Amino acid sequence: MPTRTIAVCQSCGAQSPRWVGRCTTCGEWGSVVEEPVERGAPVASVAAPTATLAEHDPSDADRVPTGLPEVDLVLGGGLVRGSVVLLAGEPGIGKSTIALQVALRVGHDCGVLLVCGEEAPQQIRARAERLGPIPSGVRTLADPSLPGVLAAVASGEAAIVVVDSIQTVFDPELPSAPGSVTQVRECGARLARAARENGVTVILVGHVTKEGTVAGPRVLEHLVDVVVSFDGDRSGTVRMLRPLKNRFGPTDEVGFFEMATEGLVPIRDASAFLLADRCPGLPGSALAALVEGRRPFVSEIQALVQPSGVSVPRRNALGTDAARLSVLAAVLDRRAGVKLADHEVFVSAPGGLQASEPAADLAIALALMSAYRDVPVPEGLVAFGEVGLAGEIRRVVASDRRLAEAQTVGCTHALVPAGLEADVDGIELVRVRHVAEVLDVLEPSTAVRVLRS
Ligand code: TYD
Ligand code: MG
Repeated sequence: MPTRTIAVCQSCGAQSPRWVGRCTTCGEWGSVVEEPVERGAPVASVAAPTATLAEHDPSDADRVPTGLPEVDLVLGGGLVRGSVVLLAGEPGIGKSTIALQVALRVGHDCGVLLVCGEEAPQQIRARAERLGPIPSGVRTLADPSLPGVLAAVASGEAAIVVVDSIQTVFDPELPSAPGSVTQVRECGARLARAARENGVTVILVGHVTKEGTVAGPRVLEHLVDVVVSFDGDRSGTVRMLRPLKNRFGPTDEVGFFEMATEGLVPIRDASAFLLADRCPGLPGSALAALVEGRRPFVSEIQALVQPSGVSVPRRNALGTDAARLSVLAAVLDRRAGVKLADHEVFVSAPGGLQASEPAADLAIALALMSAYRDVPVPEGLVAFGEVGLAGEIRRVVASDRRLAEAQTVGCTHALVPAGLEADVDGIELVRVRHVAEVLDVLEPSTAVRVLRS
């Protein structure tokens, strides 16, 4: 009898009875593969015991601090016993490094098992030597087959099991290849159940690929307790750890790290890190007060404006939102008389943290005007606010936190939306209603007034 098969999208996990060239659920081309299905014998129904909601103790969430304050912040206070954490990110971003750093810290206090699916234990040992002392509580398991991993979880030897990566774990009873949606989903579900039953914390490392050809962590999101994404520009050194889902804590915290030779080093003062190489007093440079999650930081925004001979001049955004830059350039041209339609426009937020939130608009506008006029922005001035299509300056969230952070880096004045009601000691507000008013800040006479007011 031929094996019955089912078509499964490797990108989103949607199933259909027949193979199709394009997934009808997520629209991905060429992502559907046929996988065999095996049906087990029917199981007789058995009444399972139930409990009242009130009898459960909410303080049961027993946490193990990781020893890395930035990671604990993102997790909401540490790893919860019996929970499953999915650490997702692109290949090469640093997932194995941060998982190993956590293992090396917690290995001093409790047993940690590293399931080595991607790298050999010798390779991991070599990497660990650069990251810190190797505690005796850290053990390795070289074989990532599911029965072995489940047995290790059940043995109670380790309080924390790191599976690097879930795409390499396979159930030999399933006919599909490791990394396929069926394998990832089944192994993820069995590991999650084992974690809960044994009170062991399981960290699943999961690769996210842009192409979506490998079964992505998306099929796991619903069965884990915490999803943290690790991202950043791979060509740079800055990395961000953020919770996308957290059953035990907030999802608006963010941890900033720098990838150094001794592993991932937390960036405690993001503004100082971003502004370290700044040359003050140059045209085309402005300061933006931004937030990432709950964390405020001040970033430099640089702009370069060049006359262009082509009918559709370039708009190039590095570290800022490309679509917003095109709109902003058109708004400045139309509403503020800054003739950018025949200029090439380049904008960059150097340092590696994204300045893509709408609140960066006002600082980008200021940097563009400063570059266009070839006049520097007055020193000590920071800006934040969204620019609307009519050129109006709109309020944004977390103004107080932005102003307080700007003050800590030595800003004395803040260019803000006219409607903003805020009062922060030591920082003077320069209110603007419309983007055309921003030009006044660059007038030498006004600039003097702005800074003396
Ligand atoms: P890795 O953790 O292996 O990424 P992932 O598990 O997400 O695929 O780390 C990737 C890169 O980090 C690797 O190219 C080398 C670099 N790296 C450092 O710069 N410093 C270090 O201390 C370590 C361990 C890695
Ligand atoms: Mg890795």
